[in-house]
Amino acid sequence: MIKFDSVSKTYVAGSGGLSDITFQIDDNDFVFLVGPSGAGKTTILKLIMRQIVPTSGSIFIDSVDITSKKYNDTVKLHRKIGVVFQDFKILMNNTVFENIALALKVSGTSDKIIKSQVEEMLELIGLAEKKFMFPLQLSAGELQRVAIGRSIIGERTILLADEPTGNLDPKTTWDIMKLFKKLEKKRTIIIATHNVDIVNSFKKRVITLIDGKLIKDERAGRYHL
Ligand SMILES: Nc1ncnc2c1ncn2[C@@H]1O[C@H](COP(=O)(O)OP(=O)(O)OP(=O)(O)O)[C@@H](O)[C@H]1O
Ligand SMILES: [Mg+2]
Repeated sequence: MIKFDSVSKTYVAGSGGLSDITFQIDDNDFVFLVGPSGAGKTTILKLIMRQIVPTSGSIFIDSVDITSKKYNDTVKLHRKIGVVFQDFKILMNNTVFENIALALKVSGTSDKIIKSQVEEMLELIGLAEKKFMFPLQLSAGELQRVAIGRSIIGERTILLADEPTGNLDPKTTWDIMKLFKKLEKKRTIIIATHNVDIVNSFKKRVITLIDGKLIKDERAGRYHL
């Protein structure tokens, strides 16, 4: 569960940010964050990642207030969170397998468990055949699959995606969105996007922001802007 309670974020000199945002996202919910450029979508994702802290208000993950705890106390919570970006952020000198294994290596998992978990993930994201390839040998859609695999490997049950299809052609966009759909049963997924067609066809929850304010929060919502 992720909860924002009257969260405001003011960047330098009072510009931009968010004002008085309140919402709750339950486990295994699927949510689109929409709004014009500068509305505050990335700011919300960064706050959940605790990359930035709010100016006021509280943010809860599984009923733990991540704004009041010391960083070390929230590290475990943050093992639950995976992130996917528009530009993939894949390690270019590592293979597909190594890129996905990285998160497990960092948390000290044994080689045997890493191998079986990564193999399973490669099946899920449809890249079993390409596990020893390097990023330069992959298409953009395949790179985004690697990024998604990496972001959800292990115990990660919250998947945040910031414009995940921003660099993809329409067909690949749908392939990637189908992959997100496949993952939704066991995970909480929050996707910031400008893609009107995707939002309107998925009929999922849509949170709409304008100028840092939450102006709509609808189940089976649409892209209204
Ligand atoms: N580090 C920062 N310093 C100052 N202002 C910032 C900073 N990051 C974001 N802002 C401002 O906060 C507002 C919200 O930015 P944010 O990146 O969350 O928007 P967004 O909805 O993700 O936009 P886009 O669709 O273009 O990605 C904008 O006005 C932006 O200029
Ligand atoms: Mg953004």
